Amino acid sequence: VIFPTETVYGLGGNATDKSAIKKIYNIKNRPSNNPLICHFKNISSIEKDFVINDTSYELANKFWPGPLTLILEKKEASNINPVLSNHNKFVGCRIPKHPIAQALLQNLEFPIAAPSANISTKLSSTKIIHLSKKLKDNIFILDGGKSFYGLESTIINASNDNPKILRLGSITLEVIEKIIPSIILENYSNFSNQSPGQQIKHYSPNLPLRINVNSVLKGEALLNFGTNNLKSEIMELNLSTSGNLEEAGKNLYDFLHKLDNSQSIGIAVAPVPNNNLGKTINDRLKRASKTNLN
Ligand code: TXA
Ligand code: MG
Repeated sequence: VIFPTETVYGLGGNATDKSAIKKIYNIKNRPSNNPLICHFKNISSIEKDFVINDTSYELANKFWPGPLTLILEKKEASNINPVLSNHNKFVGCRIPKHPIAQALLQNLEFPIAAPSANISTKLSSTKIIHLSKKLKDNIFILDGGKSFYGLESTIINASNDNPKILRLGSITLEVIEKIIPSIILENYSNFSNQSPGQQIKHYSPNLPLRINVNSVLKGEALLNFGTNNLKSEIMELNLSTSGNLEEAGKNLYDFLHKLDNSQSIGIAVAPVPNNNLGKTINDRLKRASKTNLN
């Protein structure tokens, strides 16, 4: 089932069922070494399957339900299918807040394995209209309107003495630092070790994308931010005319999908300030601008 969460739409299946998990990998064209996030209704259902240390509890109590994914160590007796995490005992766990996601989880006796509802390396979906035909035609859909945050969850591994942010998301580095001052932001170029899914090319439109532009080329569409002199003759959308990063985060994938469908030769993106949610937005834009797979 494709279902809404407060971050982006998920493509969910039974996390204890190998064939359901394999179907998710197949339809997304996702490499099997890129683990899925496991979604739970509450902390007590996670405690049955996973070890939670003090730092992880602190984060969980502060942000769950919400846009946080914690990497936790699976217990031997867990029913979570090993294929979900490529047989690794460290699994990404999350409790979503969206009422439809919650209702779904409350009515099931098993957790939901769910990556973002998009074809691997392509743009995430924050509205049903963003779903690719392959997903739309083959999977049952729960429509929850436009995603509240519009950026994926923040992934943290606090299961050892060196807590790390593996992926910036809807919760910012600045907010996490207040809780764990020693938190490290994983160097994305080293991501292949920690998070096989964090390929450099990711979250990408079909058109080429240039970031931090100071001028727009003839034939390019423009993804603008704030006020400046940038102009496109083809099509332009502004993430936030007032320079509000929350608003920009909400609009990011929606506007990239729209510009990707325009009659342009590429997408030029205005600079976005690199603080708070701007760091997450710039991470996604940087990956979207890469042209090769590694
Ligand atoms: O907001 C979200 O997190 C959305 C909603 C649907 O929950 N889900 C999502 O899933 O973005 P996905 O699969 O598109 O991205 C999850 C990322 C992948 O890059 C994956 O490599 C990483 O999390 N990840 C998952 N499990 C991991 C693990 N055990 N260790 C390290 N990284 C992991
Ligand atoms: Mg994804």
